[in-house]
Amino acid sequence: MSNLMTKLMTVVVVVMFAVVAILGVSAVAIADDEAAIARGGKVYDKWYKIAGVKAPKMSNPLYPAAKKYAKKPKSNWHCKECHGWDYMGVNGGYAKGKHATGIKGVDGKAGAPIANIVSVLKGDHGYAGKMPEADMQSVALFVSKGQVDIRKHIDYATKTPKGDKARGANYFGTICAGCHGANGDKPRDMGKTLGKQMGNPQEVLHKVLNGHPGDNAEDESARCSGASGYPGLREDTT
Ligand code: HEC
Ligand code: HEC
Repeated sequence: MSNLMTKLMTVVVVVMFAVVAILGVSAVAIADDEAAIARGGKVYDKWYKIAGVKAPKMSNPLYPAAKKYAKKPKSNWHCKECHGWDYMGVNGGYAKGKHATGIKGVDGKAGAPIANIVSVLKGDHGYAGKMPEADMQSVALFVSKGQVDIRKHIDYATKTPKGDKARGANYFGTICAGCHGANGDKPRDMGKTLGKQMGNPQEVLHKVLNGHPGDNAEDESARCSGASGYPGLREDTT
């Protein structure tokens, strides 16, 4: 592995460790709807990939006209674009920088009834008729039950994860390497793309917990699961 690649993979596995660090010491009941929550997390990430539809051609009217992605409908319909990878919107990682919108997070809706969140999506958000009903339910379930406090696992000042590299490497080797290869360069051209993600550990943590929507919506079996099937993972991060 090149030095750069080694560094990048270290970041991945450290993030990994951050979320599974305390698994060894606490037995936690497995939420029976974890798969559905993780699916909702992928809808939060890039819903039109999960729905297998094209991104809307028109920009999202809720996106502030003066901000960077105002003319990019492929970006400005993602939940994460306005509410952040850490769900905290203006109070989180997107407080500043090119993704900043000044919009609040969805963290205030953790624990809210699903129907309440779905009605938000069908209101000014304008997802009705664009996003399938089942996916609105899914992402609402994620908002209600799937959010974790990412600040516990990432040092925001340095944008680095707070985990243990050696243990993280073990988790990477067992949970992820089957698909991504020992060096993280699979499948396809992953070496480069996985590396590019590492500048944003909040994003990686979201994908570790929920998986990555990917380009092949038609083939669920080839989709990145992250570590979303790992027993008790999400409960241990909250
Ligand atoms: C283009 C920007 C944008 C996108 C994309 C977006 N939202 Fe929002 N969202 C907003 C704005 C603006 C508000 C209202 C904030 C306020 O009341 O100040 C909001 C509010 C919310 C709220 C209510 C938060 C609260 O505490 O009242 C929820 C829940 C929510 N959005 C979920 C989602 C989900 C889920 C998605 C993706 C399917 C999404 N949003 C995509 C801009 C966006
Ligand atoms: C079932 C196979 C599978 C497993 C297990 C898996 N992945 Fe993936 N992962 C994929 C595929 C396939 C893609 C690329 C999807 C695409 O084409 O965009 C991907 C993409 C990603 C991406 C996004 C990279 C990008 O291009 O944006 C990250 C980050 C990632 N995986 C991390 C992980 C981590 C960390 C683990 C272990 C916790 C993991 N994955 C487990 C199959 C898997």
